[in-house]
Amino acid sequence: MRRRVMRLDRKTIIITGAASGIGQARARRALEEGARVIGVDLNGGGMPDGVEPVIGDVTAAATIARAVETAGTIHGLGTIAGISRSGVAIDELSPEDWDQVFAVNVKACWQWLVGALPSMRAAGGGSVVMVASQLAFGGGRLNAAYIASKGAIVSLVKTAGFELAPDNVRVNAVAPGAIDTPMLNDGMSRAEDPAAARDYSRNRHAMKRFGQVDEIANGVVYLLSDEASFSTGSVITIDGGWTAA
Ligand code: NAI
Repeated sequence: MRRRVMRLDRKTIIITGAASGIGQARARRALEEGARVIGVDLNGGGMPDGVEPVIGDVTAAATIARAVETAGTIHGLGTIAGISRSGVAIDELSPEDWDQVFAVNVKACWQWLVGALPSMRAAGGGSVVMVASQLAFGGGRLNAAYIASKGAIVSLVKTAGFELAPDNVRVNAVAPGAIDTPMLNDGMSRAEDPAAARDYSRNRHAMKRFGQVDEIANGVVYLLSDEASFSTGSVITIDGGWTAA
């Protein structure tokens, strides 16, 4: 019988946001594909068995330093942790909330990339995967800071992918549609009519359904693996046809 090829065999990968939703699925899939996984989150409760936890805020330099030290050689980095402040009108959003969304969703992704870079360079290269959103391309209502932050990720992976190509460090993103996670449910629960908001969002996808976490995690595994050796500065849309509809 032929042995299944492990797509992330012998790779050490740091994944932020590994205790919930997409990050949790991605950590589990990375383990299944043979990786050693360092999971970073505010708490370790939801991290899959086998993940080496680093508990802390992704925006703190000390958290980055601990994860980088724990990992040693880093082959892959997934910056998945993210927050949203949906349900707030563009002129009612506080500057503090705007800053917080950008600190977690954008600045921290850059900080983690920079933190992992010396180890990736020493290893001869690596792969970084960030998470944008279909909303970066289509816009949306009552979610300005979040959507702008995801647009910034599209630009960040393009410039980082370009700049770091000589180092053999690939930088890409996935842009998911609405995925059934605590973040989605939390956002919907803040709508005036949560059931109607869920229906509207679901039907906005050509496939008339929400995505499942594994459908995004599989795309991330591909980008982390050597199968994606010619991909950098790119954004893979995995959105059930949201941008096409
Ligand atoms: P989630 O809320 O289920 O999980 C996010 C995780 O990030 C949580 O475990 C949370 O504790 C962690 N986290 C948040 N802030 C942190 C901080 N400062 N320090 C450390 N950990 C922190 O969210 P979900 O849905 O899995 O989202 C993951 C990523 O995917 C986010 O970047 C999100 O913007 C993006 N995304 C999600 C979509 C969806 O429909 N669920 C659609 C498009 C993108």
